Amino acid sequence: MTDLGKLGFGTWAMGGPYSFDGEPVGWGPSDDAESVRALRRALDLGVTLFDTADTYGCGHSETLVGQAFAGVRDQVVIATKWGFTFDAETRRMTGTDGSVGHLRRAVEGSLRRLGTDRIDLYQLHIGDLPLDQAALLRDECEALVAQGKIRSYGWSTDDPERARFFTEKPHGIAAQADVNVLFDNPEMYAGEYAVLCRRPLAMGLLARETFDVLPADDVRVTNPAWLRFFVDGRPSPEYFRAREAVRDVLTSGGRTLVQGALAWFWARSPRLVPIPGVRTVAQVEENAAALRFGPLTPDELAQVESVLR
Ligand SMILES: NC(=O)c1ccc[n+]([C@@H]2O[C@H](COP(=O)([O-])OP(=O)(O)OC[C@H]3O[C@@H](n4cnc5c(N)ncnc54)[C@H](OP(=O)(O)O)[C@@H]3O)[C@@H](O)[C@H]2O)c1
Repeated sequence: MTDLGKLGFGTWAMGGPYSFDGEPVGWGPSDDAESVRALRRALDLGVTLFDTADTYGCGHSETLVGQAFAGVRDQVVIATKWGFTFDAETRRMTGTDGSVGHLRRAVEGSLRRLGTDRIDLYQLHIGDLPLDQAALLRDECEALVAQGKIRSYGWSTDDPERARFFTEKPHGIAAQADVNVLFDNPEMYAGEYAVLCRRPLAMGLLARETFDVLPADDVRVTNPAWLRFFVDGRPSPEYFRAREAVRDVLTSGGRTLVQGALAWFWARSPRLVPIPGVRTVAQVEENAAALRFGPLTPDELAQVESVLR
């Protein structure tokens, strides 16, 4: 069975700029050489799970993951996603496609960009797809496992019913959902499956001490409907106050704020695997060092929960 470990790294920002409906959906400019160095450094430091999606940078993030791990493929666990359509030439996302035909095409595209013969965890990226359509995709995922193209699969969704549905067959093993210390969602991890936790650092709010002006093509500036941690490129006052309220307990024992935010997951549930987004070696080193500190103690966790919930 696919071993997801305790910590993975996310590669959305590494994909670089791209857009949907004329709005930026990337994280501003990226540096490919630094991205590849960061991914390799992560593996040196014992992190083996890497989360990407075909749509991040319209294929570019997957290409970088493939480059970084060429030659060491057997040492890493690659999780990617399908469900969005995009034009790699113009770097525009064009919509979604929840059909079986698209799944069959998408898996070939991801395998090619990743430079591999199998995907370890393949995740449905359309969070609200109706269950009758998802049932067809689930069957096709089992067929892709039998063909050796994927090892396991799951659904990136914030709906516990959908997450459970996609883990009912033998190779459905995980969901991916928004969970972090400032935005808990215990219903998502009440099941028997693992949960890759996206936005574990509240998109940087739990990581940065200062918030300079972000580039205009950073998704944190553009206020999409789902964005809760930032408003106009500045931290949301509500979540900023919550962060400050738990800062002391998260940073106890010599942890940085990031390391405390990651330690919260390991104290909260053994099913949770945070996948902080990274783009530099320095970020990778700080985040991977959280593993050395381990989980918050039961008392620290109780303090966080009593302040925030
Ligand atoms: N629908 C989906 O399936 C979905 C949606 C969202 C995310 N995801 C996945 O989940 C991953 C994580 O979520 P996310 O990237 O949105 O948010 P996140 O992990 O909460 O925040 C990532 C950002 O935090 C900052 N950061 C990370 N480590 C840092 C450090 N040590 N020091 C200072 N800043 C640090 C970086 O921003 P700066 O470089 O700007 O400082 C980084 O881009 C994504 O990369 C992606 O793989 C999936």
